[in-house]
Amino acid sequence: MTAKKASISNSKGGVGKTTTTTTLGHALALRGKRTLIVDFDPQGQCATALGLNPEPCVFNLLISPASGSSHRWVRETGRENLDLIPGDRSTATAQIVLNAENRPISAVAEALASLSKEYDYILFDTAPSAGGLQERAIWASNQVIIPAATEFLSMDGIQQMAQLLADLNNQRAWQGTLLGVLPTFYETVTKHSKVAMLSLKGTFGERLLPPIRRSTVLRECAAEGLTIWEKDPDCSVAADYTRLVNILIKNRR
Ligand SMILES: Nc1ncnc2c1ncn2[C@@H]1O[C@H](COP(=O)(O)OP(=O)(O)OP(=O)(O)O)[C@@H](O)[C@H]1O
Ligand SMILES: [Mg+2]
Repeated sequence: MTAKKASISNSKGGVGKTTTTTTLGHALALRGKRTLIVDFDPQGQCATALGLNPEPCVFNLLISPASGSSHRWVRETGRENLDLIPGDRSTATAQIVLNAENRPISAVAEALASLSKEYDYILFDTAPSAGGLQERAIWASNQVIIPAATEFLSMDGIQQMAQLLADLNNQRAWQGTLLGVLPTFYETVTKHSKVAMLSLKGTFGERLLPPIRRSTVLRECAAEGLTIWEKDPDCSVAADYTRLVNILIKNRR
């Protein structure tokens, strides 16, 4: 049994990557799926979003494999079935070392090979920039979700991601696929969000996922270190994320 891996990535910042990673991760865990989140963003926000402290665990996982098994860098989140390999600023140094040592595109996949046998799902949060680590994380993934904020839609960031996925497929023998582009910060009443949805639909067609609404309670979750499933599981944005987790489970490949 090998974990299915999904990257939540966009080179644009503030589009809901971390929120989507932690919300999906906890949703999978609540359905009894053993789930590991790996935070490949030097901002270390997966830890804080889950009420934990950032730590140099990603650095150690990638750069000091000789110092013990990868299990050492896994932290319990206090939620059944949900673990985290937290990151912090040292993740940026890890990326520099990976590049300087010319480590292969498979470096992340290899670092997680033994842990992969212990989980049903592994989710990767990635930094809002390409630089080597994002590419290696995506290469290790079966599927990629690209969150895109409908209120300040940047087609540039999304097109850049789509190009990266195509390059990995064509030049690096990557076997994964785009699960879809995920509209975030969706406002049901504004024209702007509707125009953005139409534009995304025109480009991505079937690969456009159902949107995640803008929600004040979701913002509060991050500040309090809680997931939406702990704070307000019956709210509308929780329903949006339930739809997404259903799609992820259905498309398990
Ligand atoms: N649907 C939403 N409605 C309202 N606020 C949201 C929503 N999704 C995320 N947020 C909030 O928006 C901010 C940015 O979200 P998040 O940190 O998930 O984005 P990110 O893409 O990971 O950012 P970065 O690129 O800096 O890592 C956070 O304060 C988060 O709580
Ligand atoms: Mg983030």
